[in-house]
Parts: sequence; C-alpha cells; structure tokens
Amino acid sequence: MSILLTPTPAAWVDAAVERWRELLVDHVNCEKKAASSALGLIFAYPEDRELTSALSRLAREELRHFEQVQALMVQLDVPFIRQQPSRYANGLRAALRTHEPARKLDLMLSGALIEARSCERFALLAPRLPSPLGEFYARLQSAEARHFELYLNFAEREGNGEDWRARLKILAECEAELVNAVDPVFRFHSGVPQV
Ligand SMILES: [Fe+2]
Ligand SMILES: [Fe+2]
Repeated sequence: MSILLTPTPAAWVDAAVERWRELLVDHVNCEKKAASSALGLIFAYPEDRELTSALSRLAREELRHFEQVQALMVQLDVPFIRQQPSRYANGLRAALRTHEPARKLDLMLSGALIEARSCERFALLAPRLPSPLGEFYARLQSAEARHFELYLNFAEREGNGEDWRARLKILAECEAELVNAVDPVFRFHSGVPQV
C-alpha cells in the first residue's frame, strides 16, 4: 500500500537519470540524515523501548547504506561536494505539530512519508540507471519499503484515540505539494526541476 498522494513527476525522473552524479552526492547525505533522524528519535523518546530498539536497528542499516553509497562514489569517481539541503525535509518538518503527544505521531507519519517517497524513487530509477547503480537502487527500494512500514506501524500505535489517518492525509498533502512544486535545486527529494 502506498500512502503517497501523487507520483514523482516524470521530469524529476528524467533529470535524475541525466544527473545521477549530482544525485549520488545528495543521496549519501540522505542516508546520513536518515540515521541521524532515527538517533534523534531515540534521544527524544528514551522511555519507549519498542521504538528505540527498532530505530537503533534502522539507524545502523541507514549508516550501512551511507557506507555503501560512499563506496560507490569512490568506485564511480564522484567527488563529495558540499550542498545546501533541499526544502523537502524542512518543508515537511514545518507542518509537524510541536506539542506532545501530537508531535510524536507526526514524526512517525513524516518518517513514513519520507521513506515511502524514497522507495518510490528508487523503484523508478532502478531500471533506468546503468550498472552497478541500477541493481543497488533496486536493493535499496526494498529496504525503504520496510522502513516505511516500520514508521507507519508506530504511527498506528501512537494514534490511539486520534484519527491518525486524517492526520496522515494532511501531511501527505503537504508532501505532495513539495513534490509537485517547481524546485530551484535538484536533489533526491526535490520537486519539478527548474529548467
Ligand atoms: Fe537508507
Ligand atoms: Fe530508510
């Protein structure tokens, strides 16, 4: 099941196939950020053992991805260049509620949306990218699908009493807007590339 309200625009996929070197530089940052967000949640909710155990495993897996992307960059001779992050993560974060327990639910839902979008994009890119990148992205697609399920299950658990589906719809609408808007920068989670 997908929770995304809109598919990735074809123009983004075409740009990513052309600009895969640039994409890799942002991708390596995304893996670091995914690990760091999971670690942030472990610090924010230390009393929730079920969550912290699951996120500890997830953070290790994301760091492993980071190592794999970094190794691929060496293999494909792609240097690391410092980049400004895309507005995607910040845009989504701005939509989250700041009071608990609503914030915890929103963090689980935004985690699920980010992982679902990554999963969708890896699936779109895998058949169009040359070896070894295509095969690598196909493998990452199934990892992201698992991460999406994990965050969604925690959202469901968190959302007792509250209608978490209604909240998911609101955040998914915000995510869809970010993906469909024209974006001045090209990144793994950016919108329609500005030409
Ligand atoms: Fe990852
Ligand atoms: Fe992930």
